[in-house]
Amino acid sequence: MRRHTLYIAIMLWLAILAGLKFGVRPPMPASVLMIYMTLSTIAIILFAAADEARFQAFLAPLRAVFEGRAPKAVQLLVLAGIPLLAGWGAWLRTAPSWDAPFEPRVVHPEPPSTFNFHGKRIDTASLKNPLRAAHEKDPAQLEKLTAEGKTIYYQNCFFCHGDALAGDGHFANAFSPIPANFRDVGTISMLQESFVFWRVSTGGPGLPRAATPWLSAMPVWQNFLTEDEIWKAILYIYAGSGSTPRTWDEETKHEKH
Ligand code: HEC
Repeated sequence: MRRHTLYIAIMLWLAILAGLKFGVRPPMPASVLMIYMTLSTIAIILFAAADEARFQAFLAPLRAVFEGRAPKAVQLLVLAGIPLLAGWGAWLRTAPSWDAPFEPRVVHPEPPSTFNFHGKRIDTASLKNPLRAAHEKDPAQLEKLTAEGKTIYYQNCFFCHGDALAGDGHFANAFSPIPANFRDVGTISMLQESFVFWRVSTGGPGLPRAATPWLSAMPVWQNFLTEDEIWKAILYIYAGSGSTPRTWDEETKHEKH
């Protein structure tokens, strides 16, 4: 038993490492694991050193290696293997990686309280889709405007936002972030139309500071479309993706249920 003190210590150390790494859920941060393993190492060495005979047995295999009494293969393994392992570890830590650096992005930043549209100041909070408001009681007219919006969509938006409004147009993969998928519940269906109007009108360049990095390829549509055209396109992206804009009325209704 004594002869194996060092091996038992190593096995114990590995068992603690495996237990902490795979047995603890959720996984602990690497820095915490490091603290536990340092303490375990100290505890094991202290235990081995507490008894003179035990400590000699613990050191014996190491002595054999360093004094050249151990088999050649073992010597090679320890003297070359350990430095190589340490070197490999250091390489893994410092090697440059090809992955793009992680940049968190706020997808739906707080809109500004006002923004410029064709030279006028627009108040975001009170903004409503005028087409929807004017034709609320006239579904046929709304349908006609939506159909016009569809044409606008296919002339301007579909290259990026896709045939089925799923954010997978021809150019979609050329961009990072990729174009919004209007069928996803996390996009327009959780937004008010005023927010959508602001985003469409001012595009990627209109994103506020919170949405850095400003890598969005979304164009500034007020440079190319009229106010009416943008509202029609918005009618269509909701109708075409089978979603409805978020409204505060609806929310109070939900709350009552
Ligand atoms: C050149 C490609 C491109 C074109 C063309 C384009 N978009 Fe975008 N759009 C994007 C990208 C990329 C994003 C995602 C990044 C962002 O939010 O700005 C986006 C985001 C959006 C969003 C925000 C959705 C959300 O959940 O915040 C809306 C709304 C939108 N686009 C509407 C339109 C409309 C309407 C048109 C046509 C008038 C259009 N887009 C044309 C690239 C494009």
